Amino acid sequence: MAILKIARMGHPVLMGTAQPVQDPTDRRIHGLVADMVETMADAPGIGLAAPQVHVPLRVVVFRVPGERTEDKKEVPLTVLVNPVIELVGDATEEGWEGCLSLPEMTGRVPRHTHIRYRAHGLNGKSFEREAKGYHARVVQHECDHLDGILYPMRMTELSTFGFVEEMARASRTAMDPAADDANEDGEAA
Ligand code: NI
Repeated sequence: MAILKIARMGHPVLMGTAQPVQDPTDRRIHGLVADMVETMADAPGIGLAAPQVHVPLRVVVFRVPGERTEDKKEVPLTVLVNPVIELVGDATEEGWEGCLSLPEMTGRVPRHTHIRYRAHGLNGKSFEREAKGYHARVVQHECDHLDGILYPMRMTELSTFGFVEEMARASRTAMDPAADDANEDGEAA
């Protein structure tokens, strides 16, 4: 296993369309995933997509801590190979996001609140899950990486985009409760 270098916004590998994985059971894919999991834990982050480690393949890893989910249950470490998202309903909501490819920055991003996603696991079998709220947000954020989309490209209110440290300080000064939100919620994915 190895900790991989993370590409930052502006690097072409983050702007392209990642290629589908031909064989999820290939040991090279297993090796890539092991390195991605180690890199994500080291960062630390809650999600990572292969293009972020300079590999233009449709592979995502994530883990959603229990304090983030609606039912307070952790979404355990999940590997998505060739994921596909289906939107359920039209509802969207805004929430703070961060990204390991935009270190120390955060912004409010509208996302669909309810999705269904399908992917292959490392055993080659496909599975399907429904996700709401923060879980749905993480999956949308990570899958966007596979299509060259970074969260600022999804933002509608760029005045909420900035450095976590500055925004938290500004919000504290303004006695705005969103301040600490920006600090705590801008977790990197
Ligand atoms: Ni990201």
